[in-house]
Amino acid sequence: MVCQAVPLPACTGPHPLVYPYFMPQIPLEDTFYDVIAKAQRGWKVSDARLAELAGITPADLLAVQQGKPLYAVIRRIARHLRLDPEALETLAKKAWYPKQPIFPRGFAMFNTPYGELTVNSYLIWDSRSRLAAAIDTGTDATGMLDVLRSEGLTLRDIFITHTHPDHVAALPALVAATSGQVWCHEREPALDCPHKTFKENAYFHLGDEVAIKALLTNGHSPGLTTFYITGLSWPLACVGDALFACSSGGSATLFDQQYRVNRQKILALPKDTVIAPGHGPLTTLAQERKYNPFYAVGATAAHHYAPSAPADAPQSP
Ligand SMILES: [Fe+2]
Repeated sequence: MVCQAVPLPACTGPHPLVYPYFMPQIPLEDTFYDVIAKAQRGWKVSDARLAELAGITPADLLAVQQGKPLYAVIRRIARHLRLDPEALETLAKKAWYPKQPIFPRGFAMFNTPYGELTVNSYLIWDSRSRLAAAIDTGTDATGMLDVLRSEGLTLRDIFITHTHPDHVAALPALVAATSGQVWCHEREPALDCPHKTFKENAYFHLGDEVAIKALLTNGHSPGLTTFYITGLSWPLACVGDALFACSSGGSATLFDQQYRVNRQKILALPKDTVIAPGHGPLTTLAQERKYNPFYAVGATAAHHYAPSAPADAPQSP
């Protein structure tokens, strides 16, 4: 089997950026109206039903869906979509951006263009053995290859969070330039590239310092995996598209599954865990517990004071 190059859309975004050499100021992945749309789709709540539950006019709902920050309306909507009203209002006000963690060694972040969007990939390494692992590739491996060379690293493994094209577009180039073993979860659709598969809770080690645990956090894709990494400056969770700063991974059909496993497996990690998502900026679990409309403390309570349980309301997680 030969790695096939993936045709890419025109690259109109920024050039690859590397962290911590300089800080990529990546915009939040989702706006407040993206979050509302994602929650409505995920929980299958129609516009008419949402307007009825929230006691708002269809015109006000439409205005919010089109990006008008009507804060009182936004708060009422949040309570019926399991969203934290404070966090959603803060997102609408553009009043917060996650404080970026510092990794003095063993970690680099790459942000590569994908059409008008960008996608993240990561490199981690053991500072003694100089063994490294990539988490996804993004659309351009140039920055990652530069760091491998400049830091004198050997790329031993290439871990794939999920096989959506933006996350593996540069895999052929990375495989061609290194001896890295490609890994993805056994449930994920097969890569058109030689690879090995792993199961839930598989462990990997880089030298004596760095341990990597595979957590199945699926829903956005069948085998989407969070790689929980210890031995660096901070606990690190590379979550792919399961979770974003201030938002959640989307899924047309399995949103409930994604929401449930995110709570069970990602939100349960130590609160100082750095979240490294597939899109958008780095964040931390402590910050997301306060500012993520889907997962902030008020989000779990929100549906309890809905006036009635509608037929199209979400099932309890
Ligand atoms: Fe994806």
